[in-house]
Amino acid sequence: MKNYDVVIIGAGPGGYVAAIRCAQLGLKTCCIEKNPTLGGTCLNVGCIPSKALLHSSELYWKLQKEATSHGIHMKDLSFKFDEMMLRKDNIISGFTKGIEGLFKKNKIDWIQAAAELKSPHEIAVGSEILQAKFIILATGSEPIQLPFLPFDEKKVLSSTGALALKHIPKKLLVVGAGVIGVELGSVYQRLGSEVVFIEFLDRICPSFDVALSKGLQKSLTAQGMTFHLSHKVLKADLSKDVVLSVQGPSGEVSFSGDAVLVAVGRKPVSDKLGLDALGIKKDAKGFIEIDASFRTSQPHIFAIGDLVEGPMLAHKSSEEGVAVAELIAGHRPTLDYFSIPNVVYTSPEVASVGLTEEEVKAHGLSYKVSTFPFKANSRARCTGEEEGFVKILAEEKTRRILGVHILGAHASELIAEPVLAIASRATVDKLADTCHAHPTLSEAIKEAALGVFKAPLHM
Ligand code: NAI
Repeated sequence: MKNYDVVIIGAGPGGYVAAIRCAQLGLKTCCIEKNPTLGGTCLNVGCIPSKALLHSSELYWKLQKEATSHGIHMKDLSFKFDEMMLRKDNIISGFTKGIEGLFKKNKIDWIQAAAELKSPHEIAVGSEILQAKFIILATGSEPIQLPFLPFDEKKVLSSTGALALKHIPKKLLVVGAGVIGVELGSVYQRLGSEVVFIEFLDRICPSFDVALSKGLQKSLTAQGMTFHLSHKVLKADLSKDVVLSVQGPSGEVSFSGDAVLVAVGRKPVSDKLGLDALGIKKDAKGFIEIDASFRTSQPHIFAIGDLVEGPMLAHKSSEEGVAVAELIAGHRPTLDYFSIPNVVYTSPEVASVGLTEEEVKAHGLSYKVSTFPFKANSRARCTGEEEGFVKILAEEKTRRILGVHILGAHASELIAEPVLAIASRATVDKLADTCHAHPTLSEAIKEAALGVFKAPLHM
């Protein structure tokens, strides 16, 4: 029987990062992953492939839309979908091999198998039993399926199927206008699909500040996507194409398409792990219950990432993986959930950190808000990326930054500065008084910060 200090189940951004940090801290570590490649959902069927396709499709779409305004004239611009997909696959395999290399470098054992807990310190991997002082559960999440729309990955697609299509659908229905829906909807819209969203709530990307949801919907609508909000799918007819019967505010309507992407959220993968026999508690949705130190009801067994309550974000899982590794090694890590950024990689991008205006109001905080549009930013004018704005909320009394919300090009990169400001408990004045290079998009952050208690200079 092999003995380890730590056995980690799951090699996504939570598990593989936890494994690396454990090994760096001198712990004998093994990571078990049921899939043939490391990296989990994020690398294989999530963040990375979607960002690769978002970039390829955006390049094609922007060349079509904007090239002539730059004096660039092209003949016969076209794309080959199979080559685009191949590029995406090559990026994935580069990364998954990269993690294998990191495991080797850090002397981490990894086993390809489905693991199951057999006793508090024993893990079954096929016919082998591993012994571990500590166990980290990091098995992630999977797409939620609607009962009348079982995934076949041909006509009824999960995000996994939508990232591996052979042909571009002529008309793609998307159930759920959340993060996955709008990102993958954008990819296929840019490549020629007609994309129609059916969303249960009265706005898209509901976890974001309302101003971002509304601004993004306006932009995506201008790009040709159609949104049916406050609509609930009742049933589906899959006998020929896809026909959805949907309850809208003014009665029942039907939508047809040649494929449907179901993106109504994800659920934790917490069954088949042998948790019940060990008394490890889950809530009604399957999330593993943990204390403030990520400990399950078995104190030497930890759970992180999408398996536990909180935003389902790769970077959140990685931070938790590092924190648990350090806890096991006897350190006292801290993890600041307030400064975890949230990004949508559409065009324009959406990026947020801290509280939304609705949350600030719900907390009863007295606050000031300022918004600065990219159309008043010189770099955005040069690059033609004038859509969107920076919105900053600060507490009136302490001038503490409560939230920063960006809709605009490169928002995913711009958010890093507000993240550091919030993590450092900076006042909005610190952001406003910091020198920003000119001309850069980041000046819009300074201008929005100036607008909270002083006044922007360029508006
Ligand atoms: P989501 O929670 O972002 O959005 C699901 C949407 O579906 C919501 O707007 C919800 O109101 C709607 N919905 C739920 N049931 C419905 C129904 N029966 N009919 C119509 N609409 C319905 O979930 P999504 O997009 O599936 O993403 C799952 C997770 O993955 C999220 O937590 C997300 O943060 C994460 N993710 C993060 C990415 C990023 O960081 N860029 C990219 C992709 C996913």
